[in-house]
Amino acid sequence: MGFVIAVDGPAASGKGTIAVKLGALYGYPVLDSGLLYRAVGVKVLERGQDLGDEAAALDAARSLDPAELEQPRVRTRAAGEAASRVAVYSPVRRALREFQQAFAAREPGAVIDGRDIGTVIAPHAPAKLYVTATPEVRAQRRWKQLTGQGEAVTFEEILADIRVRDERDSARADSPMTMAADAVLLDTTEMTIDAAFDAARRIVETARSRWETAKG
Ligand code: C5P
Repeated sequence: MGFVIAVDGPAASGKGTIAVKLGALYGYPVLDSGLLYRAVGVKVLERGQDLGDEAAALDAARSLDPAELEQPRVRTRAAGEAASRVAVYSPVRRALREFQQAFAAREPGAVIDGRDIGTVIAPHAPAKLYVTATPEVRAQRRWKQLTGQGEAVTFEEILADIRVRDERDSARADSPMTMAADAVLLDTTEMTIDAAFDAARRIVETARSRWETAKG
């Protein structure tokens, strides 16, 4: 395994931005694993199927084409909600695991952000971050992003979405959202993006020195 950087945490914690910046810094490819679940949810809806139908979600996951991650529709509020509904199914998670693990195996390294990267997808990742912030601050960030994309939605609706999603992601029987024992917690509530990235970079640099020493 190369130098895998696992960036986990709840919705709108800043993990996606941090992951992209770390990828640019090291020249590593970046995978936003949330897009996989979003694309599965969108596909179920587009086929006119029910998000409560596990077999439909599994079929959507198995037939997923990486090009589907690029559609603008996967970045909508509805896609986020659909993603967390299909993410509760263990067979769906298993179907998406191989793609993520192949990405993690890329040399000389890779950055993956999600919920269970440091715990399930790449438990041996040499660098693990768990990025968080209060629900209010996360809702504020997500509200800005969605209204910037032209969605008509209130701050209160987004805050409610975030609370429901945190609850669903944490209560999941399979791979619940949880911090890996060896991850470093980064609370970005009071931080600008630049400050959060700087803190993340320092954590990763420490992990990198340790990893290089261990490699010999
Ligand atoms: O990170 P993002 O908000 O795009 O994730 C959408 C949903 O996909 C999450 O709320 C979660 O239910 C699911 N997800 C997951 N495991 C991941 C990434 C996302 O279960 N590694």
